[in-house]
Amino acid sequence: MAKFVERVFSGVQPTGNLHLGNYLGAITKFVALQETHDCIYCVVDLHAITVAQPPAVLKSNIREVTAAFIASGIDPRKHIVFNQSQVAEHAELAWVFNCVARIGWLNRMTQFKEKAGKDRENASLGLYAYPTLMAADILVYRATHVPVGEDQKQHLELSRDIAQKFNNDFSDSIASNGFGDAFFPLPEPLIQGPATRVMSLRDGSKKMSKSDPSDYSRLNLSDDADAIAQKVRKAKTDPDALPSEIAGLAGRPEADNLVGIYAALNDGSKEDVLREFGGANFSNFKSALVDLAVEKLGPIGAEMKRIQGDIAYIDAVLKDGSDRARVLAAQTMTSVKDILGFVR
Ligand code: TRP
Repeated sequence: MAKFVERVFSGVQPTGNLHLGNYLGAITKFVALQETHDCIYCVVDLHAITVAQPPAVLKSNIREVTAAFIASGIDPRKHIVFNQSQVAEHAELAWVFNCVARIGWLNRMTQFKEKAGKDRENASLGLYAYPTLMAADILVYRATHVPVGEDQKQHLELSRDIAQKFNNDFSDSIASNGFGDAFFPLPEPLIQGPATRVMSLRDGSKKMSKSDPSDYSRLNLSDDADAIAQKVRKAKTDPDALPSEIAGLAGRPEADNLVGIYAALNDGSKEDVLREFGGANFSNFKSALVDLAVEKLGPIGAEMKRIQGDIAYIDAVLKDGSDRARVLAAQTMTSVKDILGFVR
């Protein structure tokens, strides 16, 4: 297959309560990739409205995610930070992909089943089509690498299937328009690290989630030092001391989760953590975890607050990023129209 220029794309939904799971599972990776790649980071507001959002809340959440990106170390001048709805080409390419993807493929998406719940008849059509919009987000920039949490793996595979089917279905037209043997790259997920799946602090078998009714279940990026300390101290554990080896975490989901969080915040592995804390009781380990979490997350929360105080700045970042993204997206759409046989 043709060689594509490496480019990173990822998106975060502006649906409130950005937490440690979003940070460790995605945002820290976004930050690191800036060193090696051209990156595009998108606040996916079109995805957010697949479930009803009060307009004033949505607007504030879009700005909050933007502030979190910047506070975490994403540089909106070197890379692109913008919100999806300002670049109409995402929705335009999503329509094309709705005609490429098969209903059978979408029917297999486990996230739809979870989110739609029992009352599937009453879910929005947008919630069902969500993964084709996600494929469009990535492929409208012909991005090659996508840092995401574990839960998005299936959607990424669908994006690859869509790219592949488009390349096959239109192979003659792709070649005659001068694009060789493939127009879209097959985007690769980047999923690694000790805590790509951060679990609830109250129940180690459930994912940390913005929609958990208990705020004690998660560390929010906006939490201050006191809140972080309280939540870590109250986190569920078991009566045993920490093991010295990974095998000793089996069947101990809460211990496993806290060790994974410590490892990720400390940029190390779970093995490192157990080497240091094996044999320690939880109250000692939790004290160390509080210190580490406050050291790493405290400054981000404070910086987020500061940035959120300057709405004009946030909106200017989004506008500038959208203007730059639109140029790239428009080029792709022009080529897609030629490939499909649209008159322009
Ligand atoms: N579905 C992703 C999530 O909920 C968000 C998202 C939308 C995304 N478009 C994307 C992630 C494109 C990566 C690439 O986390």
